[in-house]
Amino acid sequence: MSAAPAPLAIYVHWPFCRAKCPYCDFNVHVRRDVDHDRWRRALCAELDHFADGTEGREVASVYFGGGTPSLMAPATIAAILDRVAALWPVTADVEVTLEANPDPDDTRRFADYRAAGVGRLSLGIQALDDRALAFLGRAHDRAEALDALEQARRYFERLSFDLIYARPDQGAGDWRRELAEANARAGEHLSLYQLTIEPGTAFGSAHKRGRLPMPGDEAAGTLYEVTQEALASAGFDAYEISNHARPGGQSRHNLAYWRYQDYIGVGPGAHGRVTTDGSKFATRQFRNPRRWLEAVEEQGHGTEERAALSPEARCEEMLMVGLRLAEGVGRARFRAETGTALDAFLDSKRLATLVEGGFLLADDKRLWATPAGRQRLDAVLGALLT
Ligand SMILES: C[S@@+](CC[C@H](N)C(=O)[O-])C[C@H]1O[C@@H](n2cnc3c(N)ncnc32)[C@H](O)[C@@H]1O
Ligand code: SF4
Repeated sequence: MSAAPAPLAIYVHWPFCRAKCPYCDFNVHVRRDVDHDRWRRALCAELDHFADGTEGREVASVYFGGGTPSLMAPATIAAILDRVAALWPVTADVEVTLEANPDPDDTRRFADYRAAGVGRLSLGIQALDDRALAFLGRAHDRAEALDALEQARRYFERLSFDLIYARPDQGAGDWRRELAEANARAGEHLSLYQLTIEPGTAFGSAHKRGRLPMPGDEAAGTLYEVTQEALASAGFDAYEISNHARPGGQSRHNLAYWRYQDYIGVGPGAHGRVTTDGSKFATRQFRNPRRWLEAVEEQGHGTEERAALSPEARCEEMLMVGLRLAEGVGRARFRAETGTALDAFLDSKRLATLVEGGFLLADDKRLWATPAGRQRLDAVLGALLT
């Protein structure tokens, strides 16, 4: 263990949405009768709970994710940020991100979110044309998305937005044009996700019945390459598989996950990784909002599971998240986070095969995936770790 642990990241999950999008399998629930005072008290109580054992650690980022956190009352955001600052020392440049949907009602709250302490907005634009937005089952249209972007620029120094690509029938030319517009309208950061068909979603069942023909591996691969080229030529660094930033514009909060630093997760279904007394614990909160709320009110937290990670699990997890990053996994950091040297953990024959295949590279400082390796990281990890 290093003497001074890396700063803490704090994730706050808001599980409610106006409607459920047909592709989404996040922990989201549609409720019209949310008691905002009760939720504010419960989220703050869970922060109190996690402060026990982590007191004195610096907090460098707070991330409001969901669900649709732009349905939160600005007073809830302010109360949570106040509570964080009361419980831990907060770095001078703490990064506070809110995920927002470009719905006009949410856009109208941007000024209040800014006043509450949010400095970075991550907007779920998803597509820049109305046909694609309708296909994705989104509540907003192109005009509303563009308006949300314009308002976001007025209020937030730091701006990111998400798009989903590799949609059925999306050609490389269409995607190139959409990316050119995205680049022209982007702030410092873009998240570009390939549409994934998740079991248990509306798209999952349509796909199973053969009603949703998805691009094959080759077509999806071409779209991925188009993405990398377009973003690189616009001055964005592909610092993670789906995330691109202008210099200094990386999501510091998400970097903490990928670098396997500690993070606290509060709210229904939130996950955390917290080191105390030399052990790293994986925490998971109750997924169901009512179950979570009742547990917090009864016992001060809604933790469903808290388990110490074995040394081997820590090594595996660090590689699984770290190889998503272009920078890869630093040897010194690996040793500091896991207590094990990278070479002692890895099977040298498997590593050599993946290096020869052009998927991984290693030197005396770090191990990282090549662009070809990052494009098929699940397979690479399977070959490296099992
Ligand atoms: C959990 S969502 C929350 C953001 C916000 N509620 C919204 O919808 O704009 C975070 C991001 O994950 C992405 N996402 C969710 N499900 C996906 C899927 N099945 N395939 C690809 N991207 C997905 C979307 O781009 C979305 O903006
Ligand atoms: S994509 Fe966003 S708005 Fe849609 S269901 Fe998922 S979290 Fe909610």
